[in-house]
Amino acid sequence: MKMVNLKNLCALFVFFMAFFQSSNAAYNVVSYGARPDGQTDSTQAFQRAWTATCSSRLPATFYVPGGKFLIRSVVFGGPCMNRILVQIDGTLVAPSNYWNLGNSGFWILFIQVTRLTVYGGTIDARGAAFWACKNARSSCPIAARSISFVASDNILISGLTSIDSQTMNVALDGCNNVRIRNMKIIASGQSPNTDGIHLQSSTGVTITNCIIKTRDECISIGPGNKNLWIEHIACGPGHGISIGSLGNSLIEDGVNNVTVTNSIFTGTQNGVWIKTWGRPSNGFATNIAFRNIIMRQVGNPIVIDQKYCPYNQCPTQSSGVKISQVSYKNIIGTSATPVAMTFNCSPSNPCTGIRLQDIRLTYMNSPATSFCSNAHGSNSGVVIPRSCL
Ligand SMILES: *[C@@H]1O[C@H](CO)[C@@H](O)[C@H](O)[C@H]1NC(C)=O
Repeated sequence: MKMVNLKNLCALFVFFMAFFQSSNAAYNVVSYGARPDGQTDSTQAFQRAWTATCSSRLPATFYVPGGKFLIRSVVFGGPCMNRILVQIDGTLVAPSNYWNLGNSGFWILFIQVTRLTVYGGTIDARGAAFWACKNARSSCPIAARSISFVASDNILISGLTSIDSQTMNVALDGCNNVRIRNMKIIASGQSPNTDGIHLQSSTGVTITNCIIKTRDECISIGPGNKNLWIEHIACGPGHGISIGSLGNSLIEDGVNNVTVTNSIFTGTQNGVWIKTWGRPSNGFATNIAFRNIIMRQVGNPIVIDQKYCPYNQCPTQSSGVKISQVSYKNIIGTSATPVAMTFNCSPSNPCTGIRLQDIRLTYMNSPATSFCSNAHGSNSGVVIPRSCL
């Protein structure tokens, strides 16, 4: 009897929640002067609509209808009064002249906004002209990240498409409890440094069911991240999924508890990799799991590289970052180079607790090879190429 009462109570609660949500406030950017013509600068209108949405005492919807809206750099600042749904049916486009995005380093920025859902829509940063500037090594403004979330908690980003970012498409910095799902990220042509999703100093981030085709990392995990779950990612072209670069600073937060699973890499430069600068640092990476992964013609399917040092600023060539408890399980497919597994660890801080299980990576129809330096761990099941641990 008691159970039934509890059930009824739950049903009533769910009903009231649904009622409450349907009666929430909605703020349409068009009502604030935005024009869906792709030409009119709608930045001010978006800003005004946001101020109204953020001050709503009821749960509020910031609504972008169909069409193309031209916006310059915009800050969606919190804290807001209640939870917010940003529903995008149309496309946000950046100015065609990249100088009009300024030098702030961002295009769309959410800062200190909690309980936020960003649903649907396309953001097109139109980065091609900016990449050309970069590739020509002429003087360009600071690259603008397409959509950033800073110091924000309890966020869901669902069904968003990001096209042709100048640099990182999605960036999280100092966020907790974030879900990113059903995203499509595409950077075409000669686009340097177009990371798909970059995470920094964030906790409890789940990224699932995303298609990421860029010219830099599909997902990059910087210092200070923990409890990450990455699943059902189709990555490629791009540089794979990386933890790093770590150890750029002497004093740095580590990376703890990352899982990458059920994913596929196609024609990427690297697969799953961990990279650290070859110089002193107190950083670390531990409790990392890579499993159930298919590699298709991937340059370097499995890599730990602790000798990363692009500008020769590493006199000792020895990384202070400690890498431990990294498992690779059920990783199969093809390597585009002969060395399919590289564990190039630090002489002063060897890698420990590397576990290999059920690996099958071939190069041109024969077993690939592996390379180890200062790497310790164990193997079980089938391991091809032969383990050098
Ligand atoms: C590791 O992260 C996952 C995913 O966020 C989480 O479910 C799990 O509880 C974490 N494990 C520990 C020991 O914190």
